[in-house]
Amino acid sequence: MCGIVGYVGHRPAKDLLLEALQRLEYRGYDSAGLALLESDALYVEKRAGKVRDLAERLRDKSFRATVGLGHTRWATHGPPTDINAHPHSDEHRQIAVIHNGIIENYLPFKEELQRRGHQFASQTDSEVIAHLIEERYDGSNLFEAVRTVVQRLQGAYAIAVMARDNPNEIVVARQGSPLVVGLGQNETFAASDIPTLLSFTRQMLVLHDGEIAVLRRNSAEIYDFSGRKIERAPQQVDWDVLTAQKQGYKHFMLKEIHEQPQAVAHTLQGRYDLERGQILLPELEAFRSKIQNAKFIYLTAMGTAYYAALAAKYLWRELLDLPLTVEMASEFRYSKPYLNQETLVIAISQSGETADTLGAVRMARERGATVFSIVNVVGATLTRESDATLYTHAGPEIGVASTKAFLAQLAALDLLGLYIAQVRGKLSPSQTQEALSSLAQAPVLIEKLLQQEQQIVQLAQIFYQKEHFLFLGRDLLYPIALEGALKLKEISYIHAEGYAAGELKHGPIALIDPDMPTIVLVTKNSVYEKVLSNIQEVRARRGVVIAVTDDVQRELEHLADFILEVPAAARWVTPMLFAVPLQLFAYHVADLRGTDIDQPRNLAKSVTVE
Ligand code: AGP
Repeated sequence: MCGIVGYVGHRPAKDLLLEALQRLEYRGYDSAGLALLESDALYVEKRAGKVRDLAERLRDKSFRATVGLGHTRWATHGPPTDINAHPHSDEHRQIAVIHNGIIENYLPFKEELQRRGHQFASQTDSEVIAHLIEERYDGSNLFEAVRTVVQRLQGAYAIAVMARDNPNEIVVARQGSPLVVGLGQNETFAASDIPTLLSFTRQMLVLHDGEIAVLRRNSAEIYDFSGRKIERAPQQVDWDVLTAQKQGYKHFMLKEIHEQPQAVAHTLQGRYDLERGQILLPELEAFRSKIQNAKFIYLTAMGTAYYAALAAKYLWRELLDLPLTVEMASEFRYSKPYLNQETLVIAISQSGETADTLGAVRMARERGATVFSIVNVVGATLTRESDATLYTHAGPEIGVASTKAFLAQLAALDLLGLYIAQVRGKLSPSQTQEALSSLAQAPVLIEKLLQQEQQIVQLAQIFYQKEHFLFLGRDLLYPIALEGALKLKEISYIHAEGYAAGELKHGPIALIDPDMPTIVLVTKNSVYEKVLSNIQEVRARRGVVIAVTDDVQRELEHLADFILEVPAAARWVTPMLFAVPLQLFAYHVADLRGTDIDQPRNLAKSVTVE
């Protein structure tokens, strides 16, 4: 996510904003910038790169400004370039804006503004806000100009605005993205989060969605979008900075597990029309004929992203009428796969920098294939090596163990599979509507699952000293068994193996004993009875069974030693739901074992070497 910070006070704004931007760095970003109100001009300095690059540019420049805005950008619309960095302003440099979020309806506004003669400099959605406010701002009431504009915006945003001729205030507004106000002595602050302000003040006012605040040196007035004034007492925040960066969670991984409802919701947002039963992926429109004429599909990735591709395979095969297979990128690239102009290759990668995935894609394109990528980092290398990219909007994933990016990949793969089926005429609008209504439920169901965390903590307390685990699943839960085993092994260092349950009697059953718990994923599908038999086989050899299921039946209650329930849902959503308890189990086992959960030993967030 982007980070925003605003200041109106008595101190030199430049140094204070640069310090605040350094505190925002942990959120992950690709560009940084600031705007200073210097006598009667708006000075803007911004560039792709790190805050230290920005500070270097400003080192020898002195300013008297005591009002300003700062921004760290996590690109969503438009690659990370100097011109796409924030703050954005209108062509007359009358207004400066910084923004965190996504303006869904920016395009019609941009076209309308361009027709009225506005000159746009960037490819971002955010720049539209500066032009809209400039049009409304008559030089006397910045609050009213902002209030009028934000009521017309759709999507998620936290913005801070300042005007060239108004050195005494900044106006901020919040809808769907976080924004807090800090109250100091003869100075007032705004920022995306509490940690950014803790070194300046501990008196915080948290804005709610649908609120605007006018910040002056000695006041912060809050209003709702209709202009009604809201009284709110400030809170004293005693967190230390690091705890605050994790928003009170003990680790980034746990914070990111709890961000999964938004990660899935933001990835789905604006990409379908439920009324018309349509999937809307404008990024791929130019490739309709390639999709229609495709004769073969490969999905390729590494690690957790590979398991997302494996899960998608089961769903896509039910939809599509052509051969499709999933291959680990490190194997795919050296196995002389069948590739030509009629092959579609889908590469999935959170970082977009994984060496094996990049190698696979480069080879596929050399051999004439069309490559679509699913990536979480805008402008990452993989996006430049692909014909088109469908971004997940999970926000920066700090923990090495991938969680929210995984669920966002599953959601993006659902959309892509439905889109390909729609383009190939394999899906009627009503069938699409049915799939979409279940997909739209996913964030709520994930949220409901997260409420069960305490039950999983108790389970972890029973099992955290075990040294071996077996995870079993069939059908689209086999990849989730693999993912559950990976989560456990990579953060707790316990030996954990994921297996197709049907493989049990072909080897793993030799391992069963009371000291190696077996986690079995059970869903009411065509292989339900077979999985029950697998559980019986494990129990018959004194194995301990933890069943994760969306359908507690009497026989399962009788068979399993422990049961974790997940909500029953359509197959589009099932893999996401079963992954969540396994993520939480791995997390709490590792926490009890005291490992370095966010940076596990020997692991990197992105494996940029083979
Ligand atoms: C997952 O928890 C691991 N961090 C790892 O397997 C990861 O999924 C893999 O390295 C792929 O990374 P990518 O999605 O950035 O390509």
